[in-house]
Amino acid sequence: MAPRASLCIEGTMPAVTEVLILDARQPDPVGIARAAGILRSGGLVAFPTETVYGLGAHALDADAVTRLFAAKGRPAEDPLIVHVHHVDALAALTTGVPDTATALASRFWPGPLTMVLQRSGVVPREVTAGLDTVAIRVPAHPIAHALITASAVPIAAPSANLFSRPSPTRAEHVLQDLDGRIDLVIDGGPTPVGVESTVIDLTGSIPTILRPGAVTLEMIRAVLPDARLAEHAPNESAGGMKSPGLLTRHYSPRAPLTLYEGRSDRVVARMAADAGAAIVRGQRVGIVAADEDEFQESTAVLIVRIGPESEPSTLAANLYSALRTLDAAAVDMIFARTFREPSGLTVAVHDRLRRAAAGQVVKV
Ligand code: TXA
Ligand code: MG
Repeated sequence: MAPRASLCIEGTMPAVTEVLILDARQPDPVGIARAAGILRSGGLVAFPTETVYGLGAHALDADAVTRLFAAKGRPAEDPLIVHVHHVDALAALTTGVPDTATALASRFWPGPLTMVLQRSGVVPREVTAGLDTVAIRVPAHPIAHALITASAVPIAAPSANLFSRPSPTRAEHVLQDLDGRIDLVIDGGPTPVGVESTVIDLTGSIPTILRPGAVTLEMIRAVLPDARLAEHAPNESAGGMKSPGLLTRHYSPRAPLTLYEGRSDRVVARMAADAGAAIVRGQRVGIVAADEDEFQESTAVLIVRIGPESEPSTLAANLYSALRTLDAAAVDMIFARTFREPSGLTVAVHDRLRRAAAGQVVKV
């Protein structure tokens, strides 16, 4: 595809972001080699993973990592995940690989699981935001895997969104946020999982999930029975946190989001009533709904359905896209709800919805 013209936002940013379309199942090695060359020479390349699109930079090149933070507008105290092609790469990046990591890697890698381990001196401080630990994962997506393998260096990759915006699950979402700020985006279609990887801290005595994701607590406990979910206070600040990226206000759409929690029928009735009141005040409301939720048609309400309540994987796959659709429609407020069965992948969906709501929760 021909390069697309775009605005140069800051002097140090590339003026044009190229789009490279690749087959997600069998990516063309010539395209992969070109993208890998850009990464090796310090450029920024967005690419699909099985979770969300990542924005890659050479993890051992501190200047490239600094450019990555600038392109995202990400605060320097928010550490990055280092992506590698094989578990063998752990040895060089860490001070030692605990048995817990070996056990989880053999069960879940490649896949949507990130492990926090003690960092070795090889990893630049820019990557880990000065922490003594480093987060590492081996992604399963064929494009991500081929790109990291061809690069032959570890690739630091946060989600490819502007800081605090919903993570991108399609190449067009990446361009909405980063067009003109990065060198290349590989368009490999929608990402299958839709929410970011599970992050587990293996540096303490108890394996602790810092961010829930597609590798669920139940799945991890089958390997490490004492694993647990970290408790997060509702209004924590970055200072005292184990995982600085886990700010309560994160993954946010532009319009304020209110999260409704409770029994589905009551929640839907309350959302409809609150939407009606907002319309009377002249406001436009966006609703993130399950397929079966019954709302009356109204021109002042935009409803985006993300799947049946009984299919957490579908809800997860469509969640961020729904938030971006509502933002693009410039609604004044967004209403969303929790779903039944707060286990498995629904834990991750609820986690992201609570962060997007930033404490604005209505219990029905
Ligand atoms: O699925 C994913 O993980 C995606 C794809 C691209 O791989 N990446 C992603 O990266 O979500 P990011 O930067 O948006 O989120 C990284 C998370 C943050 O919550 C960050 O605080 C946490 O990982 N993290 C990174 N290094 C850490 C460390 N040393 N200790 C604790 N948490 C860490
Ligand atoms: Mg992110």
